[in-house]
Amino acid sequence: MTEKLIIHGGETLEGELEIAGAKNSALPLIAATLLTDKEVLLENVPGLDDVQTMLDMVRELGKEVKNTGPNTVRITGSVSSNQAPAELVRKMRASFLVLAPLVGRTGRAEVPLPGGCNIGTRPVNLHLEGLEKLGVEITQDDGGIIARADNLRSTDIFLDYPSVGATEQLLMAAVCAKGTTTIYNGAQEPEIRDLALFLTELGADLSLKGSILTVNGGNEFAGGKYEVLSDRIAAGTYMLAGIATGGRVKVESVDPASIKPLSLKLRKAGVKVEENEHSVQVESQGRPDNLEVITLPFPGFPTDLQAPITSLLTLAKGKSVVKETVFDSRFGHVAELSKMGADISVTNSNTVFIEGKKKLRGTEVEATDIRAGAALVIAGLAGEGKTEVYGMNHLDRGYSDLQSHLESLGGMVERVGENE
Ligand code: UD1
Repeated sequence: MTEKLIIHGGETLEGELEIAGAKNSALPLIAATLLTDKEVLLENVPGLDDVQTMLDMVRELGKEVKNTGPNTVRITGSVSSNQAPAELVRKMRASFLVLAPLVGRTGRAEVPLPGGCNIGTRPVNLHLEGLEKLGVEITQDDGGIIARADNLRSTDIFLDYPSVGATEQLLMAAVCAKGTTTIYNGAQEPEIRDLALFLTELGADLSLKGSILTVNGGNEFAGGKYEVLSDRIAAGTYMLAGIATGGRVKVESVDPASIKPLSLKLRKAGVKVEENEHSVQVESQGRPDNLEVITLPFPGFPTDLQAPITSLLTLAKGKSVVKETVFDSRFGHVAELSKMGADISVTNSNTVFIEGKKKLRGTEVEATDIRAGAALVIAGLAGEGKTEVYGMNHLDRGYSDLQSHLESLGGMVERVGENE
């Protein structure tokens, strides 16, 4: 039987939840370990399929990887191959991030073009143009990208768009280039700061001022110990699940500033939000008010919470509008939410119109990507009756211990079937 999550909806979620390390931070940090031959200890590494894919990747490239605790990984050894295996890159777009550390360290990298979520066109032109400015010669053949550089050279780079991945890629290249590189219009997501702090731990000299990143490259890399930042998107997902069920959820071990865009929107919808130093609690005050949401690079509203907040808004009072500007097609959840009785439609200008209803009803739905899956779980928890969510492989990429976390908050969920 195909694996699925069965949710018996209608239970009110209440309680506290410790949030694990961020997938989107762990992935670039693991890629960055290719920059050093010294031992690196990463703590708070989430147990996720995507993280495993990146660990397999650095292992294939020569690193020794050992789990030394439930969420601690020791990575040692030197790079012995500069060819990234196609099957790993196709599984996950973020594995493309090994390009810069490989070429920076070894002078050559062969990396197939990436796969990843099914959320629209995701080119890598900004990665490649930036690397070329840093002195990397890029060619492309059927196998993907071949990058060569005897020496990277420092430069000024302007990104036409503050791409998270391109900023991370170029930071990892810039720390290998002697002299000062400045990246203008870089991404400002908290995961970028986390990568910068990790690179600093490894001996890099860099500073971030808003969207301007300055790197004094060419230092020797050391080893080090680093704790991965907590997952603001997982935190936001559980906050939304709590509200959608009319409950109260406190997410712990998170930086409230990293989820401010969500917290402020929820307050606007009438939700009670309490922020402490390392936690945020949300408490439903009845059906939320309608909202207008537009996704933007940080500190704008995160595209990764677009689908989850859409689920909440199908239950809000009145008409809501959600506009996606970061990805060109990220609406796999919309048709599934309609199946559950939501009054929702999407236009070809990437805008979702929602007329809030009092109830959703459980049915069979299919997750098409990680966050669409999260949206369906939220809808299932809030809906009446039984919801069966297929496409668990997507949820496993981004949510660790999903079932037990929901159960600990009082949700009734069971996972059945086999991964095919
Ligand atoms: C990262 C996150 C992902 C999140 C996204 C935006 C990871 C592992 N993933 O993805 O969860 O949804 O940031 O916050 O951290 N683009 C180009 N050219 C490029 C690069 C990007 O046009 O060279 C476009 C993309 O097609 C997309 C937009 O820029 O439309 C945003 O992409 P980007 O910020 O690069 O996202 P990712 O790093 O892929």
